[in-house]
Amino acid sequence: MKFEVTPKLAKTDCCIVSLFEKTPIEKQYKNSLPTELIKSIKAHIGAKDFEGKEESTLTIYPKTGSARKVILMGLGEKKKEMESDLPRRLGATARSLTEKCKTVSIIFPNRYLDLSPCEKFTEGFLLGEYKFEKYKSKKSDKSNTTTLSFIGYDKKKLKNMKEIQKVVESIFFVRDIVNTPGSDMSPNKLEKETRKIAKYANLKVKVINHKQLQKMKAGAILAVGQGATEKARMIVLEYKKSPKNSKPLALVGKGVCFDTGGLNLKPTRYIEDMKLDMGGAATVLGLFHAIGKTQPKLHVIGVIGVVENAISKEAYKPGDVIKALNGKTIEVLNTDAEGRLVLADCLTYVEKAFKPGHIIDFATLTGCAIYTVGHDMTPILGTDQKLIDNLLESGIRTDEFMWQLPLYERYAESLKGSISDLNNTGEGVKAGTVTASLFLREFINNGTPWVHCDIAGTAHRDKADSSYKPKGARGVLVRALWDFIKNY
Ligand code: BES
Ligand code: MN
Ligand code: ZN
Repeated sequence: MKFEVTPKLAKTDCCIVSLFEKTPIEKQYKNSLPTELIKSIKAHIGAKDFEGKEESTLTIYPKTGSARKVILMGLGEKKKEMESDLPRRLGATARSLTEKCKTVSIIFPNRYLDLSPCEKFTEGFLLGEYKFEKYKSKKSDKSNTTTLSFIGYDKKKLKNMKEIQKVVESIFFVRDIVNTPGSDMSPNKLEKETRKIAKYANLKVKVINHKQLQKMKAGAILAVGQGATEKARMIVLEYKKSPKNSKPLALVGKGVCFDTGGLNLKPTRYIEDMKLDMGGAATVLGLFHAIGKTQPKLHVIGVIGVVENAISKEAYKPGDVIKALNGKTIEVLNTDAEGRLVLADCLTYVEKAFKPGHIIDFATLTGCAIYTVGHDMTPILGTDQKLIDNLLESGIRTDEFMWQLPLYERYAESLKGSISDLNNTGEGVKAGTVTASLFLREFINNGTPWVHCDIAGTAHRDKADSSYKPKGARGVLVRALWDFIKNY
């Protein structure tokens, strides 16, 4: 996609004009649109073809002027602040209405041009392009749009659009690998994807294979993977380019390529979507994808624990006592609480090997996350309030909301093992997202500030929420974490 700026409406295949409800059009577009066009729009408003209701649209074909087609889009009633996510939804809708147009021009009401709607609109427009058609014999037609032209926009800000495009590509990358079925995104395949990114993004990549994990005594991740044909591995990525901070930022991801639940087998209606269980690893890879494309001055480490939680005669068993990389013994009360075991060893490893300044992990960890805050936000928990606050703010800036849950000390009791140091379920406490996080905290061994993001409810949805939030993988938190990383 090409991005350009024109001071006034110039020749274009389509011009998108956003309008508030119940506000005279002259007030919104004083001197910024041709009088003739304003006149014909006014006629449609007068005839009540279009009133500016939120997310309503009207396509018109003016007889004269430089735009062949004009799409009016409703912003709803004018409030002090425009609803933050609205421009993205408008962008995604606009995209589906402009597939045949090569150049699409965009204008917002006067004072809103200086704010972020243009950026968000572009983000929505680009995100709206996503389709997962790898397994369709007939692919749908690609949109013809090659140029987005912003009317009256600050030329210097065009670089924002280029960056948005790169982040959107990274989100698509995440969606693609999460949407790919478990058998086609197995541990070997996920490793291949990782190596691909590492190659073009100029990253150091190190795969700690099964044998090396045994040598290290990473007994937790090994136990989860031991029932599968393709064995467990930890993949370590490093990006380093003249960082401002002396200590790197560490990103850790749960990469369970398929979660059958193990011998505590998941039932029908719970097992079908479990290809999503590498969503945390995918988020980490997506962020490295964005880092590779934009080459910021940073030092970032990524560690993903890649396994399949399978059933076989070799599979780990309920009641097994395993020993994690940090030496703690864990009684496996439920083989379906496998994500925390995988992360346990990844956390121990990254903290010891890299002494990071901060650790943030991403995991589709608990179904309970959905019961706690639903599908619209990601629960986060951690040991460092400043880090949490920064993440919450990035979430608000990008409309990828997170919500803090407490690492409530009294629930830690429930993780004490009866024949071991720990158990892996947190017996008797129903706050499963909290107990899972308290479990993870046992593997932050040197007090590194740490935050856990439970994306079980947000990484993947069984229905679309808008045309930029499709059914299936969402690529959640890439935008929010990108915002966080840039300010790190
Ligand atoms: N991968 C699941 C969590 C999950 C559930 C992700 C639904 C996405 C949607 C995780 O491994 C799991 O099975 N967790 C169990 C833990 C329990 C056995 C303590 C859960 O949440 O039920
Ligand atoms: Mn599980
Ligand atoms: Zn899982």
